[in-house]
Amino acid sequence: MTREKLLAANWKLNLPAEGIGAYCSAMRGRPNAGFDLVLAPPAPFLELLVRESKEAGEGFAVGAQNSSQHDSGAFTGEVSARMIAGLGARYAIVGHSERRTIFGENDEAVGLKLAKASDAGLVPIFCVGESQETRDAGNTLDWLHRQVTTAMAVAARSFPRLVVAYEPIWAIGTGRNAKNPEIREAHQAIAGLVAPLVPADCRLSILYGGSVKADNAAEIASLEEVDGFLVGGASLVSSSFLAIWGAMRG
Ligand code: 13P
Repeated sequence: MTREKLLAANWKLNLPAEGIGAYCSAMRGRPNAGFDLVLAPPAPFLELLVRESKEAGEGFAVGAQNSSQHDSGAFTGEVSARMIAGLGARYAIVGHSERRTIFGENDEAVGLKLAKASDAGLVPIFCVGESQETRDAGNTLDWLHRQVTTAMAVAARSFPRLVVAYEPIWAIGTGRNAKNPEIREAHQAIAGLVAPLVPADCRLSILYGGSVKADNAAEIASLEEVDGFLVGGASLVSSSFLAIWGAMRG
């Protein structure tokens, strides 16, 4: 298993106020930092972002925020992993806590989505993380164990490249990022859980997500357990997202 840096933007159901064209222009011309920068827009904008990415000389990659556990059929509103890959996207966020808590995705559904994303050649950004209640009860590591092992067992795939994002629910959109010891403990646990489930030459990234901003990114990125970030709110303005990229680049 080798570890690889990665930085990903999850725009959720938002678009950058400056406009997609201006945002993507700002992403151009960065020096090569040796790691991928991924933008995950709402699905109707995937194709546009793939086009922008080509114009930017592949200066960033494109990811979907969700992809179906089904390939085709009577599943109104779904978008398959193959369709997403066919547009030229390379990543898919799977199992985000908002999908789990608002749209009722369970570990089995997340596992099936991991499988379909992998079969379509997409790199999954597999999200896990506990609620405040689970943390307060001292059950964080058990929770992560269940989330990782259940979904990976259902997926039953051999992942040559896998991204796991640790996103504690209580830290998402609250301005209250997890503290360094909490992040280190969770990332160490995730690395230990994933290791026996992936091939020896798997390229793994473990990202932190939850109120990452330009002013806390450098400190968190300096933790050896952290390979990068999955950023929500602060990814909606190109300058703040690029400041996080700069903090990771060191
Ligand atoms: P915020 O960065 O807005 O806290 O969101 C994190 C997140 O959910 C990214 O997927």
